[in-house]
Amino acid sequence: MTGPQHIVVMGVSGAGKTTTGEALAAHLGWPFVEGDAFHPQSNVDKMAQGTPLTDADRAPWLHALADQIAGAEARGESSVLGCSSLKRSYRDILRSGAPRVRFLHVHGTRELLSDRLNHRAGHFFPPRLLDSQLATLEPLAPDEDGAVLDMMLTPQQQVAQAVRLLGLS
Ligand SMILES: Nc1ncnc2c1ncn2[C@@H]1O[C@H](COP(=O)(O)OP(=O)(O)OP(=O)(O)O)[C@@H](O)[C@H]1O
Ligand SMILES: [Mg+2]
Repeated sequence: MTGPQHIVVMGVSGAGKTTTGEALAAHLGWPFVEGDAFHPQSNVDKMAQGTPLTDADRAPWLHALADQIAGAEARGESSVLGCSSLKRSYRDILRSGAPRVRFLHVHGTRELLSDRLNHRAGHFFPPRLLDSQLATLEPLAPDEDGAVLDMMLTPQQQVAQAVRLLGLS
């Protein structure tokens, strides 16, 4: 298939969406869009309090991200987007942005996720929030275009795997 394509790096908090997504975008020479930057302030406040977001909270955010994908598509640009995309219904909204939206799910054990979050934040990350994200997570179904990346790999190894699994060059 010719034309632009859009790769969404998905996964729960701390999986490495931003790290891997930026590395992949740099490798491909495509822009990286940080999904978290598109949350309305009300969502930012909720997350800061450790309150899980509801589907209703996430809807305007996901539509704003689909608009970003549609904008890149209209300019003839491919793009990499970092977005947790935990549910299939969320991915459906992102897929509505362009004909070719593919997903890279960065995943690993709860223990490693918790470890990464605690080290990054420099303070304790509420396990409740990680558990809620893991409970919400719907992995990619066989009919969804994408691949899974192991969060234990280095970012460089993840980029190489992504390029191989998704047939990028
Ligand atoms: N492949 C990796 N190997 C080692 N450390 C990593 C790797 N990927 C990310 N990290 C580290 O793990 C932490 C979480 O990564 P990152 O911020 O990219 O995750 P995220 O999925 O974007 O999280 P959030 O959903 O909170 O934005 C960071 O401290 C980052 O430096
Ligand atoms: Mg991030």
